Amino acid sequence: MSVSQTFLLPDFAECEKPVNVSSVPQRSPFRYPGGKTWLVPLFRRWMFSLQRTPKILVEPFAGGGIISLTAAFELLADKIVMVELDKQIAAVWETIFTGEANWLAKRLLTFELTPESAKAELEKPPRSRRDFAFQTILRNRTAHGGILAEGAGVLKHGENGKGILSRWYPQTIAKRITNIELVANRLDFIHGDAFDVLARFQEDRDAVFFIDPPYTAGGKRAGSRLYTHSVIDHEKLFSICEKLKGDFLMTYDNAEEVQALAERYGFQTKPVAMKNTHHAEMNELLIGRDLSWVEDGGLFCEEPTSYNATSSKPQPKDCATKKQK
Ligand SMILES: C[S@@+](CC[C@H](N)C(=O)[O-])C[C@H]1O[C@@H](n2cnc3c(N)ncnc32)[C@H](O)[C@@H]1O
Repeated sequence: MSVSQTFLLPDFAECEKPVNVSSVPQRSPFRYPGGKTWLVPLFRRWMFSLQRTPKILVEPFAGGGIISLTAAFELLADKIVMVELDKQIAAVWETIFTGEANWLAKRLLTFELTPESAKAELEKPPRSRRDFAFQTILRNRTAHGGILAEGAGVLKHGENGKGILSRWYPQTIAKRITNIELVANRLDFIHGDAFDVLARFQEDRDAVFFIDPPYTAGGKRAGSRLYTHSVIDHEKLFSICEKLKGDFLMTYDNAEEVQALAERYGFQTKPVAMKNTHHAEMNELLIGRDLSWVEDGGLFCEEPTSYNATSSKPQPKDCATKKQK
């Protein structure tokens, strides 16, 4: 069975019971702050609640792109449009989608990572987009929390005392990159502004939108430290969503300001419990026009800190325990 066939059929059984991240293939080369791997089971559920497979799925704040990648591998939409403003992330997606996935994979496999080699590589001005893409992955995998925004420190102790190597899985990342190339014909990438692309698809009834903006509504600072581009007009985003002809699913932190905005625009909201990599339980908010497809309960987990990217280790027990709200 080929890689692209492995996850062709969604596992409905996983959706019927408490889910955890082990049922979700990790597909992104990034370790992305605010990444939505944990949301994949709910995303699948949303896709299957729609009357037909969408012709286009637009992800205007793509980041590490796990939702778009899942849709492409699992045939959840005919075409997927990923949008991202950050030039570092854009360089990676553009490199993969313009026939240079193998180059990037090979570069990862042949790089000998030490604190010194990482420093030297990251100080070099990139000579090409693909060089920049490699540097971005290196930075993402060696910075605290995968943070690419300026000011993020480099991993010193990392996991299990493995220091800078603790998130460096060159074979796994290289494989993810070459796998993505297998479905690249279903994916378009736009290095640009989410708002422009949303406006472009506004009238399209065949397009649906997964919208995961930086969480900075109400002056929240968390989102502003994580991304180079974190300032967005949240009111304007809600107002664009109101005008979209196609369905949308938006995610935010569960803050009062966000609840108030959603209410003002007549959108439904549903909190979902998730446990982050630091095992802190948080409430995130799903926002949409009709969220009747969301099942209550269940605790969704981000990848645990002990996650070894080459295997699907069992998750902490409490992630697999049904938690009624
Ligand atoms: C919460 S993150 C998305 C995470 C993504 N869902 C994932 O699973 O990796 C928000 C992303 O929006 C990007 N961003 C911020 N402003 C943007 C804009 N105006 N247009 C496009 N992307 C933007 C940030 O660079 C960041 O990558």
